[in-house]
Amino acid sequence: MSWRASVLTLFPEMFPGPLGLSLAGKALAARVWSLEAVNIRNFAGDRHRTVDDTPFGGGPGMVMRPDVVDAALASVADGRPMVFLTPRGRPLRQHDARRFAEGTGVVVLCGRYEGVDQRVIEAHRMEEISIGDYVLSGGELPALVLFDAVVRLLPGVMGAADSAVEESFAEPLLEYPHYTRPAEWQERRVPDVLLSGHHGAVAAWRRAEAERITRERRPDLWDAYTSATSSSDGRTKNDEHHPAL
Ligand SMILES: C[S@@+](CC[C@H](N)C(=O)[O-])C[C@H]1O[C@@H](n2cnc3c(N)ncnc32)[C@H](O)[C@@H]1O
Repeated sequence: MSWRASVLTLFPEMFPGPLGLSLAGKALAARVWSLEAVNIRNFAGDRHRTVDDTPFGGGPGMVMRPDVVDAALASVADGRPMVFLTPRGRPLRQHDARRFAEGTGVVVLCGRYEGVDQRVIEAHRMEEISIGDYVLSGGELPALVLFDAVVRLLPGVMGAADSAVEESFAEPLLEYPHYTRPAEWQERRVPDVLLSGHHGAVAAWRRAEAERITRERRPDLWDAYTSATSSSDGRTKNDEHHPAL
């Protein structure tokens, strides 16, 4: 049975968009997953098809009405997790993508204007997820981001069977750098160890680079990694593998 994504939006034409191409597009055509874009406006009750209203308490902008959003959610609800994309949500992480990929699918609500009446988010016990600390004009691009992160993890979608195992966040480290031919380009040589044919040395170099990059760029991930791998004598398991670090 294919993995089912439903997206509730005022702009259904934005889907599948870029997800109709490449790996996700091939998987969509092969019915590994399906994507249903539901126009929230179809659930408006009045002849003007109104979906929003002014905020109680005043302030700028408009808020999406709970009754209209509720009717749209009810039209697709079948026990799949429901996600509201919002800058106020928990940050989207690789383990969320993995969790959604292991289920039967997901229902995603895209906000517009100032957002959505909070009561309908609570009534449906929606997970509130953000794709980063910046404000976009709607939830459609975040929905595409979430679907892309999930779909590439579905069985049979990724080219190399194990490429998801080594990449950034598969464990809480950023990935090591990649190189391909030519071995020398604009007087820059590929690190010798990668040409050595010595698998153990290559693996050790890659791990050391992953650790260095994580330590330099993401102290938050590095702290989580070192505390998770701390041994009782205060050294980390990585110190044991790579005493030079
Ligand atoms: C203009 S934004 C509303 C921003 C809201 N007033 C706030 O300050 O949190 C409209 C919609 O875009 C979506 N959106 C914008 N930025 C997002 C982000 N970083 N992550 C997830 N969704 C986002 C949400 O669905 C949001 O309801």
